[in-house]
Amino acid sequence: MNPGHFYALPQSPQTLKQLLMISGYDRYFQIARCFRDEDLRADRQPEFSQIDMEMSFIDVEDIIELNEKMLKLIWKEIKGIDVGSIPRMTYQEAMDRFGSDKPDTRFAMEIKDLKSQVKGSGFKVFDDVLDRGGIVRGIPVPGGSTFSRGQFDKLTEIAKRGGAKGLVWVKNELNQAPTSSVSKFFSPEKLMQILDAVGAKPGDAALVIADDFDPACASLSALRLHLGRELGLIDQSKYYFLWVVDFPLLEYSPDEKRWVARHHMFTSPKDEFFDDLIQNKEASYGKMLAKAYDLVCNGYEIGGGSIRIFQNSIQQAVFKLLGMSEEEAQKKFGFFLEALKYGTPPHGGIAWGMDRLVMLLCETDAIRDVIAFPKTAKATCLMSDCPSEVSRDQLVEVGLRLSPQAEKFIEEAGKKN
Ligand code: AMO
Ligand code: AMP
Repeated sequence: MNPGHFYALPQSPQTLKQLLMISGYDRYFQIARCFRDEDLRADRQPEFSQIDMEMSFIDVEDIIELNEKMLKLIWKEIKGIDVGSIPRMTYQEAMDRFGSDKPDTRFAMEIKDLKSQVKGSGFKVFDDVLDRGGIVRGIPVPGGSTFSRGQFDKLTEIAKRGGAKGLVWVKNELNQAPTSSVSKFFSPEKLMQILDAVGAKPGDAALVIADDFDPACASLSALRLHLGRELGLIDQSKYYFLWVVDFPLLEYSPDEKRWVARHHMFTSPKDEFFDDLIQNKEASYGKMLAKAYDLVCNGYEIGGGSIRIFQNSIQQAVFKLLGMSEEEAQKKFGFFLEALKYGTPPHGGIAWGMDRLVMLLCETDAIRDVIAFPKTAKATCLMSDCPSEVSRDQLVEVGLRLSPQAEKFIEEAGKKN
């Protein structure tokens, strides 16, 4: 009906539920269908459902309280389990202790900082990383002193997939001096200090990674999860819940060479950062914390949300720092900025990944198990064989022409088949 114009499938009903708040509906609840074009993983699908909610005149505490009630009811009704009080952890603490913003807290193997143990050792890899402001951290491996070279090689591969450049191991040998992949650089006493710092007892080992904060955390987290499963440290019958709070508002994208919103661009910073935002103080961007929270269960993010920006000036400042010109902001979100001028109530919300919730309740770790006609990891549907090509006539009918790149893609796919 409208050639040359497009609908976008909803990534989520985010702006719309906010508009409802702005217009005076102070409570919204919907099971919403969402569509996302992103890398697929075992807990992600391109089409999925959210239990989506939004409320006015509330703060973080209200959202947490309401959602804990819902969580407890679900687990009681469906699993017959009484969920006790749900701990909270800041994003920083989650990263420091578990290397992840959705830590699986069913087992320990926590990360420990080793800067003071390894500083000035003369081992260039560690010294260089510390000099440039990176971190050297490690985890204990229960029973790791009997691991073979081959096992450590496999762990090194896992660390590398997480982004680390290498992995150092130290064994707390029974009744003899510790051994290590870097024993050339560290005396037995130093190695013992490393083992003690990570909590590796006789018979255990320590795995150590030196890198910038993000890849070091990602790699240690991957190792921790792998070993937790491999060594049978996880009690599969338990549910461990956690609220992760105080997320960074922004993160720098080296690819796009700009700041991007960590949750989404409507998320409010904590009040103490309002001034710096309005004054465009770029030096503070990396330190700004958001009124954002995630609900985590057994290492899965089952829900996430935030308190929203309700001041036009702050929303404009955020659009600006994300690299949106005033003109672009008007074009894309004019209706929204306009609405913010009329005295918007403070509001916020959260969305649960309903399929992930069902996945956990069904005790499986593949979201595909709980979705009818799921897509493959390549986002294809094997049953209906989509996405697939359409005829020229069909394209003409909707007023579309393929780009040379798309033509080439089709041609190459045809050759492969
Ligand atoms: P967010 O993007 O964090 O927030 O999504 C909320 C929850 O939806 C689930 N989820 C997914 N489940 C399956 N497959 C996917 N591809 C997928 N992507 C997300 C997760 C996640 O915690 N509008 C905001 C919510 C808000 O701020 O109120 C939003 O969509 O469990
Ligand atoms: P190299 O000097 O590159 O041969 O590395 C010596 C040892 O340090 C090897 O066992 C590497 O796996 C390990 N290694 C290299 N880079 C890192 C790193 N960033 N963090 C931890 N260990 C590393």
